[in-house]
Amino acid sequence: MEATESTENVTSAIKLFTREEVSKHNDSKETWLIIHNGVYDVTKFLNEHPGGEEVLIEQAGRDSTEPFEDVGHSRDAREMMIPYKIGELVEAERTKESDKKSRDLASGHDDDDSSGSWRSWLIPIALGVLATLVYRYFITTH
Ligand code: HEM
Repeated sequence: MEATESTENVTSAIKLFTREEVSKHNDSKETWLIIHNGVYDVTKFLNEHPGGEEVLIEQAGRDSTEPFEDVGHSRDAREMMIPYKIGELVEAERTKESDKKSRDLASGHDDDDSSGSWRSWLIPIALGVLATLVYRYFITTH
């Protein structure tokens, strides 16, 4: 988000809300949700939601990050929600959880694993090479 000046300019129109402000939009006429510190107005999405409008109205005005993730929404669903974003939570009221999650995802879990398996191969290969060299040494000198 804070990556470059130009991104900052594009996103500078983003409005900041407190949890209290969001909580006032808690019915089917104004359905706002907090998901991963973003504020979404899903009022127009209610009857398009494949999971039904009930669940969204139930969560209206609240932080629905957990139920949203529990459902295991698809990548499509995550893209679908972008146009409904109307802002973000004020800095002081954000949860660190989503940061942690994205850091976990970005931290190269795979890298650790692959370097681990690399290392586990390295020792047997080195031993094999060493054994070959020792063997050849004996063959040529005796
Ligand atoms: C803007 C926010 C949301 C969008 C764009 C969205 C979109 C979708 C989409 C596209 C699906 C179909 C399955 C998939 O592609 O994952 C779905 C299913 C569902 N969603 Fe959401 N959703 C949103 C928020 C929520 C929230 C806050 C809840 C909270 C409980 C919820 C509960 C469900 C349920 C229960 C299903 C049905 C899952 C199933 O039938 O297996 N959704 N949603």
